[in-house]
Amino acid sequence: MTDQAASASKLETGVSQLRCIGCGAVRASDATNVRCGECGDLLEVVYPGWKTRAGMRAAGLDASGLQELWRQRRTSYKALDESGVWRFREVLPALSDWNHVITLREGNTPVYELPGCGRAAGVRVLYAKHQGMNPTGSFKDTGMTSAASFAREGGFRWVACASTGNTSASMAAYAARAGMRSLVLIPQGQITWGKLSQALDYGAVTCQLKTDFDGCMRVLDEVVQRMPVYLLNSVNPYRLEGQKTAAIELLERFDWKSPDHVIVPGGNLGNSSALGKAFLEMKELGLISELPKLSVIQAEGANALVRTIRETGGKKLVSVHAETMATAIKIGSPASWKKAVRVLEATGGAVEQVSEVEIALAKAEIGADGIGCEPASAVTLAGLKKLVKQGFVKKNESVVLILTGNLLKDPDFTLKFHRGDLFAGTLQEEEAESILTPRQRSPMVLDANANTVVKVLEHVERTES
Ligand code: F0G
Repeated sequence: MTDQAASASKLETGVSQLRCIGCGAVRASDATNVRCGECGDLLEVVYPGWKTRAGMRAAGLDASGLQELWRQRRTSYKALDESGVWRFREVLPALSDWNHVITLREGNTPVYELPGCGRAAGVRVLYAKHQGMNPTGSFKDTGMTSAASFAREGGFRWVACASTGNTSASMAAYAARAGMRSLVLIPQGQITWGKLSQALDYGAVTCQLKTDFDGCMRVLDEVVQRMPVYLLNSVNPYRLEGQKTAAIELLERFDWKSPDHVIVPGGNLGNSSALGKAFLEMKELGLISELPKLSVIQAEGANALVRTIRETGGKKLVSVHAETMATAIKIGSPASWKKAVRVLEATGGAVEQVSEVEIALAKAEIGADGIGCEPASAVTLAGLKKLVKQGFVKKNESVVLILTGNLLKDPDFTLKFHRGDLFAGTLQEEEAESILTPRQRSPMVLDANANTVVKVLEHVERTES
């Protein structure tokens, strides 16, 4: 064994524990219950060996060694190394048998520059890390590879989630890969066809409940008490461990110099919590010296975190009845609100809310940069514009938007936008018309005749250049 291989195998034996975020009770890492047995609050994965510099060295967690090892793995064809999650396995909870890992080669997502969006927002350089480029089209895959692998290791036959669509699509795929059955609870009529069809294709038992997402979550909490079913919502601490690798990848992409700002959409608040946890851990391990400010943006109609911060200083959850066309984040009672408040405070980030028209405009602007995303992801750009106006983000600071879902997740929204139907019959119709019309590109129905097409081209040349 070479020195490097020897140190790599030592690194792979990471020891983790589960700690309650409410009462602090600690127990050994296992995949049985996702809530604290003492007080019922959420659990988080902690790594006791990292507490001191000496402990880190003993665990083989030397900063430059890790950076080099993780980079080298990008040239490997081993399944674990090809995954943009498990490539970072030294800072993830270890499975007792790595063969239990279920991977679709998630992660390793691209970072793009968004010049048009940068101009629209008023910042010099703007980047997007596109988590919609994951195997099932959303960031959920990075968390699912981790939590579903723990479900498999725990011997569960059934996994389950309540979802606004993306979690269910991802869970169904990972369960199918491992031969596990999956149960999906979704709010009837409130998730996009793209996401629903994925769950069906991957063989999930799919129940459309006559309630909203928060209602689905309540029903599922009871189901998992009564049946031997493993909960794969983001209250599951192993989900967040996988999801945190997007932040590690981002830091790696910027040569371990943090951008000034990272902006993320907020729904159930698992993702913001996960990314924030990674930034804090990377600082603790000495891989970065400065933290980025992590800001969370919500839709005005689903603004529980914004209200929680503004009205209670982050002390008590203010639940809302959620309404937004960005169905992925149509959540009124976010489960991970305490974790999100903690990372906002620790990184000095902001919270902001954006209107439906602002979301629609931002989504079209991201599309016009040739990237595209689903509506929930576009809240990041809409929110950035506000943070720049407020002076919280400065023109010369580096900013990364986390785009969470692929454009093709919600083609209905995009088609309605371009046909001018999105706000028809709503109170925002007039506002939408004046702001959005210049961005609309309605498809044309023409005779099959070259002259007609040439006329269209000439007209567009005259009016748009
Ligand atoms: N963006 C997209 C595309 C999402 O699907 C979600 C959440 C979020 C942002 C918000 O992330 O919940 O971690 O704050 N979707 C979940 C689901 C709730 O069921 O697919 P969060």
